Amino acid sequence: MQPLIKLENVEKTYKMGDQKVTALDKINLEIYPEDFVSIQGPSGSGKSTIVNMIGCLDTPSKGEIYLEKHNIAHLPESDLAQIRGKKIGFIFQIFNLIPSLTALENVALPMTFQNIPRYMRLKRAQELLNQVGLSNRLKHLPSELSGGQKQRVAIARSLINNPEIILADEPTGNLDIKTGNEIMQILKDFNKKGKTIILVTHNPELTKLANKKIILKDGKIIGG
Ligand SMILES: Nc1ncnc2c1ncn2[C@@H]1O[C@H](COP(=O)(O)OP(=O)(O)O)[C@@H](O)[C@H]1O
Ligand SMILES: [Mg+2]
Repeated sequence: MQPLIKLENVEKTYKMGDQKVTALDKINLEIYPEDFVSIQGPSGSGKSTIVNMIGCLDTPSKGEIYLEKHNIAHLPESDLAQIRGKKIGFIFQIFNLIPSLTALENVALPMTFQNIPRYMRLKRAQELLNQVGLSNRLKHLPSELSGGQKQRVAIARSLINNPEIILADEPTGNLDIKTGNEIMQILKDFNKKGKTIILVTHNPELTKLANKKIILKDGKIIGG
């Protein structure tokens, strides 16, 4: 089987004045369709950097990144944005919902710039909110939802364009243990339905659902 994502000798360095910060140091990694990958490591070890590269939010200083057969390591932002919109769903620790939009509108938002009528966008958003157990909160604003409910909205939003890959960067970091476990179970269910999931977490307990585990330290993979 072909890897869905392949990183070859990926390096990311930042210049801070006359200092060089190495965020990723010769990373080699293959991720296959329907993998559930966990990425662990201390703060500053490069977890978000690796996720941002895979998510086409950033490009490496050196090395190659293949998404299916396409090398995305050196593409301009306009191309990256296109790929991102079609293939990748993002879930973040801080939810990133728009405060003035309802749950339904937040979920539908990434579909806005497609040539699809509004009622169809809202119908699809409603289906996804049903799938994450929020059919009774469609008209609620983010401020009227609990943390776990906000993260469910964010999960539904990440799926709206039917991406193959879900990138979740510490999605349970702001949630209590029970709610975090519920969120993980939802991710696992979508994994079983065919989504490839890449999960960044501090919590070793949460890596139990992963079939592939990566531990980062100082920008290097030191184990799994
Ligand atoms: N935009 C940036 N400019 C400079 N240094 C950065 C930038 N983003 C990340 N870094 C540095 O790269 C390293 C890895 O960061 P990050 O991937 O955010 O770590 P993690 O997500 O594991 O906490 C850190 O040392 C961080 O300070
Ligand atoms: Mg991070």
